[in-house]
Amino acid sequence: MTSRNFLTIDDFDTDGKTILVRVDLNSPMDPQGNILDDMRIRSHVATLKDLEDAKVVLIAHQSRPGKKDFTTMKPHASLMSKYLSKQVTYVDDIFGTYARTQIASMENGDVILLENVRFYSEESLERPPLEQSKTYPVKKLAPFVDIFLNDAFAVSHRSHLSVVGFTPVLPSGAGRVMEKELVSLDKGIKGAERPSIFVLGGAKVDDSIRVAENVLANGGADRVLFTGVVANAALAASGVNIGKVNLDFIKSQGYEDQIEKARGLLAKFDDKVGLPKDVALNDSKKRVEVPVSELNSDSLPINDIGLETIVDFTKEIENAKTVVLNGPAGVSEIAEFALGTREIIKAATRSGFSIIGGGHISAEVDHLGLAHRFSHISTGGGALIDYLSGEKLPGVEALKVASKTYFEAKKI
Ligand code: 3PG
Repeated sequence: MTSRNFLTIDDFDTDGKTILVRVDLNSPMDPQGNILDDMRIRSHVATLKDLEDAKVVLIAHQSRPGKKDFTTMKPHASLMSKYLSKQVTYVDDIFGTYARTQIASMENGDVILLENVRFYSEESLERPPLEQSKTYPVKKLAPFVDIFLNDAFAVSHRSHLSVVGFTPVLPSGAGRVMEKELVSLDKGIKGAERPSIFVLGGAKVDDSIRVAENVLANGGADRVLFTGVVANAALAASGVNIGKVNLDFIKSQGYEDQIEKARGLLAKFDDKVGLPKDVALNDSKKRVEVPVSELNSDSLPINDIGLETIVDFTKEIENAKTVVLNGPAGVSEIAEFALGTREIIKAATRSGFSIIGGGHISAEVDHLGLAHRFSHISTGGGALIDYLSGEKLPGVEALKVASKTYFEAKKI
């Protein structure tokens, strides 16, 4: 039994049981259907290894209706087989007779992966758990299953039927990915050890401001360092002339209102927010280092934090005991402008407890071969931002309710 407010694999006797596991295998794919980054697929191996004597039914999605990579789970099953070193059988059905027959004929140790659950359009409707538990897929599959595990942290910000629909009708808990995400991210949000620093970059200005507001208001962060586009927005808010091209970029992404938000944040937490003192402009792919006080170009984009900022920020980061990194510091796809991101990543590996989130920066961590030096690499995109912003994730809340129900039922 755990002292947490959700159950885990350790709370259940899983041997010989049929376990339905919601996993997030959603991966970038090329037009030929090849998986370009299999990080999420690899992440679930730990859960499956702990269920070796059970019958495991995986349910997952790939992309969204209307997108080019909205496709079958067949390639995911092949890759999963490779990483698990045993057959993961792809089943071309979600909850129909074929899927149910396959589940009913499973033996201990078998693993099957059902078809893309979003092929059933009702999956993408956002509804509360009780309503979702009355849908056809839940009614049809639940009688064949003993335990439901949500291992899909990355989609737990969606109140979709495969995420929350089984928890009211089956004993339910978290898989290993979900468990590690919640334990690690809670340490990050609370700033388990001090000093605690959040380094927020990337292009999604609103996400970074939301996270900063939460961790500064709840006291989880001693410092927030802004890099990337959010740093430009915050510099503009503080009166720096970032130049027309940079201002236009912020506006073109629909983030004009975020400059005002950044102004409010700076007014409230001035000494806790670190902004770049210099930046690297992109002049025909060459770095031009300029102190922010001397910025006067309307045409050269800011593509990275500057060298002096790199020195200051990395010093702060390596002296921190808790570090959360989300989003790159610059345009890391261009080698010349990957410097800030890379140095920040390296500094974080010299700090205490370190968390990394966001696809682009995680790709850079892989590129540097430093993944093993981080305490936690989050699988979440939107879910991670919502969680770090202090929002409740429906998939996680459903697990808390399931845990209460489980213990109440045991008392009777
Ligand atoms: C993700 O990639 O962030 C998750 O798989 C959720 O996907 P969605 O944003 O399409 O719901």
